[in-house]
Amino acid sequence: MTLVPMQDVLAFIDAHRQRFVDELAEWTRIPAISSDPAHAGDMVKNAEHLIGLVKKLGATKTELWPTPGHPAVFAEWMDAPGKPTLLIYGHHDVQPIDPLNEWISPPFEPAVRDGRMWGRGVVDDKGQVLIHVKAIESFIATHKKLPINVKLIVEGEEEIGSANLDELMRQKKKELAADFVCVSDTAMFGRGIPSLCVGLRGLMYIEVHVEGPAQDLHSGSFGGGIMNPVNALAKMIARLHDDEGKITVPGFYDKVVALTEPERAEIKSLPFDEEEWRKSTGAPAVFGEKGYSTLERVWTRPTLDCNGFSGGFSGEGSKTIIPARAMAKISCRLVPHQEPEEIADLVTRYFEKIAPPGVKVRIVRLHGGRPYLAPTDHPVFEVAKRAFSKAFGKPTVFIREGGSIPFVRTIADVTGKPCLLMGFGQPDENAHAPNEWIDLENFHLGIKSAAHLYDELARL
Ligand code: BES
Ligand code: ZN
Repeated sequence: MTLVPMQDVLAFIDAHRQRFVDELAEWTRIPAISSDPAHAGDMVKNAEHLIGLVKKLGATKTELWPTPGHPAVFAEWMDAPGKPTLLIYGHHDVQPIDPLNEWISPPFEPAVRDGRMWGRGVVDDKGQVLIHVKAIESFIATHKKLPINVKLIVEGEEEIGSANLDELMRQKKKELAADFVCVSDTAMFGRGIPSLCVGLRGLMYIEVHVEGPAQDLHSGSFGGGIMNPVNALAKMIARLHDDEGKITVPGFYDKVVALTEPERAEIKSLPFDEEEWRKSTGAPAVFGEKGYSTLERVWTRPTLDCNGFSGGFSGEGSKTIIPARAMAKISCRLVPHQEPEEIADLVTRYFEKIAPPGVKVRIVRLHGGRPYLAPTDHPVFEVAKRAFSKAFGKPTVFIREGGSIPFVRTIADVTGKPCLLMGFGQPDENAHAPNEWIDLENFHLGIKSAAHLYDELARL
């Protein structure tokens, strides 16, 4: 097959810019919150909506893949014989919307202000999935065919830990076979800076339940007589770090490999404004493990955080009780060679060891995902850089990110193929928070970047 002239494709993307934005708004209206069982029906509607979009684009196969949880969408365009096959991954589920009263416009009534679209899921990850769908459309509309073979998998459980994905990938190993993988679910380093993400952290998530008396007790009659589970758990959490931000769980750092000098130099070379970054968080100061820069800590060092804490009375006014129980949600971001199960074992053992007498500790494992580090010496990374730079008109930088996408490591291991993390978000996009937004210029140039990527891969 001869290569198609890109100017037709790019002109189509320009001509349909507004319609593509409208289509993102329309999909965003479906409240696809995967963590909330009340939205299970919306998850199916959401997947079917996407199927409807790809069905119009001449896919050689479109399927809804059911799982014990929410369905995934699969589509493929396999009519470029002799050309490489690119597997594109994204997720169609979104995060919960609380606290709802902090949204300037309602999360599922997308609004455009300041060149951005605001709404839950616009950037994480519906907008970024749509970037690829619209790039595909732009080739099909102008040339009836894609320059490479493309497979698209869009799962519905990424935001809740991708629990059913490994099994699905085992079942669909043949369907998912590809030469390269591309995931668009990360952010760019800054405005207008095309950024290929080459490292993601993994995740290990548990709940720690601390149980004391059989029920809440009068703190006058019983206070001082038995251990208070909230006191006990607070003290245990306080023992997870030392004063310099190091995690104190024995063995936690055993498999962590030190950054090399070139790796540190590459991170240092990025134009990172720490004060700007701090301001964007609203926190009064940055803090973290001693001996590492902020970017190093967020991208390359493991963490252990308490994500939530409950127990006792937290209503209006006061109530004098010794609570019966306390619970903490604890998660660790993991770096290469740290395995979620092993870290869960270490943290469990530590909690059991430091539990004071008078309470029982019970650990519930929620989910995990493994970290990813890309083989950046593979030539496809230069190809992706070129494609990204063509669209944005600037050199592409390599970055890492502190977030997790469990699929990435699994697919890299299963297929042995490199994964391109070509993300079009912005660091302050408010993902998972109120007022999530996507920069509509990034959305537009993202479609062009994806189109260039397919074209460049066809030339390989
Ligand atoms: N888009 C994010 C992943 C991400 C976050 C990349 C921050 C880069 C920076 C993704 O949708 C996400 O939120 N993943 C979860 C995964 C978890 C539930 C296993 C995460 O990182 O918390
Ligand atoms: Zn997310």
